[in-house]
Amino acid sequence: MSDSRAVMAALDELRGALAPERVVVDRDKLDDYGRDESDLGVHPPEVLVLAETAEEVKRVFAVATRHRLPVVPIGARSGKSGGTLALAGGIALSLERMSRILEIRPEDLTARVQPGVITGVFQQEVEKHGLFYPPDPNSADVCSMGGNVAENAGGPRALKYGVTREYVLGLEVVLPTGEILRVGRQTIKGVAGYDLTALLVGSEGTLGVVTEITVKLLPRPRHVSTALVVFKSVEDAARAISRVLASGVIPRCLELLDDVALQACAKSAPFKFPADAGAAVMVEADGNDEEGVFAEIVRIAELVQADAAGEVIVAQNEAQRRDIWETRKYLSVNLRGLHPLKLSEDIAVPRSRIPEMVRKTREIGAKHGFLVATYGHAGDGNLHANVLFDREDERPRVERAVGEVLRAAVDMGGTITGEHGVGLAKRDYLEYEQGKALVALQRRLKALFDPLGILNPGKIFPPE
Ligand code: MLT
Ligand code: ZN
Repeated sequence: MSDSRAVMAALDELRGALAPERVVVDRDKLDDYGRDESDLGVHPPEVLVLAETAEEVKRVFAVATRHRLPVVPIGARSGKSGGTLALAGGIALSLERMSRILEIRPEDLTARVQPGVITGVFQQEVEKHGLFYPPDPNSADVCSMGGNVAENAGGPRALKYGVTREYVLGLEVVLPTGEILRVGRQTIKGVAGYDLTALLVGSEGTLGVVTEITVKLLPRPRHVSTALVVFKSVEDAARAISRVLASGVIPRCLELLDDVALQACAKSAPFKFPADAGAAVMVEADGNDEEGVFAEIVRIAELVQADAAGEVIVAQNEAQRRDIWETRKYLSVNLRGLHPLKLSEDIAVPRSRIPEMVRKTREIGAKHGFLVATYGHAGDGNLHANVLFDREDERPRVERAVGEVLRAAVDMGGTITGEHGVGLAKRDYLEYEQGKALVALQRRLKALFDPLGILNPGKIFPPE
């Protein structure tokens, strides 16, 4: 924790720099802002600041610099890697009040938003203009655009449309040194200078605080078709997924649910799977030509049929589509119905290694005596291996199992994180994936943006 005299002095200055009611020290509130969806405990800040402008963010940095206090940027607290936990106390800088959609420009296929805009709200707004913002983390109803930029978030549709970075054209960013900069561009094309936008997207709130985002939009596909296939075993499902991908068909989503995931869905999910299902795959295709979309689903059905345990079920209307997606969307939450605690990973492996990785996660779970649910965006090799457990005293063993899963992914040519970010959760494994020299270069980059090391310390890289 920080020096208490420094905190008191900073508090006075913050109350002078922002409206005093937006500088919060209420204990319960601080605890709330010390949590996220990572299950990595509570790490409360000592002060919470609710910023409303880039200029205010700059003032917060000035105070933090004078008193050498950490500043942790916070979006919607839905992150899964502990990226917003205030490990060393200090100031939590919430961007939730910067929640305006500044403009949607249908003629340019772009939009500008503040970081606190909820992703799902933004998607609905652009759809009213016949437009489409594809990045779709499953937490879209609650997560924010700023958080998505920080983590370079993805989701089921990333298979066809890519992740957040592919849609961010430009950013307004406040650096810890107090500079307010505009990086990137407002145009669809543009190659001037280093691509600092790409560097900032996915930098997990360690290089600067994003206060405005310009994104690229697409025309909204007019037709979407969703189908579900049940398999006897997860191995059969993984094989079918590989066959679809190898055939050259790229649907917009290809999601896998293993038997443990299906068990978790059984109680409360709107869609009911057959009792003997050992795995399921959700497939979605989209496009402007209805027959073309239907033909793609038929083609996929033909490709998976040999491994499937029954007919391919195609959603007949919007309500059925919604039921299927709700079942998938709340899986992470529903797993707690099986065991109250879990550590959830988001490894990604080359597509050809999906069956092997699925097998490996189960072996590691069995070896350590834990149930592992494996599900997720199998189409792009991004699997959520969730180790389920009951008691806190089991956590060290769970962490060992998780470490083995992460290393196995890297050994297969994959990565420790496909969409949730490194944060606190995976910082000890970054070097295993990237090597000493690359991690050292990234530390030097961080020092260039944040010479005093006050911005979100302890994230991405382990303490030296
Ligand atoms: C998901 O795909 O549901 C999310 O990334 C969260 C998770 O399950 O870990
Ligand atoms: Zn996911």
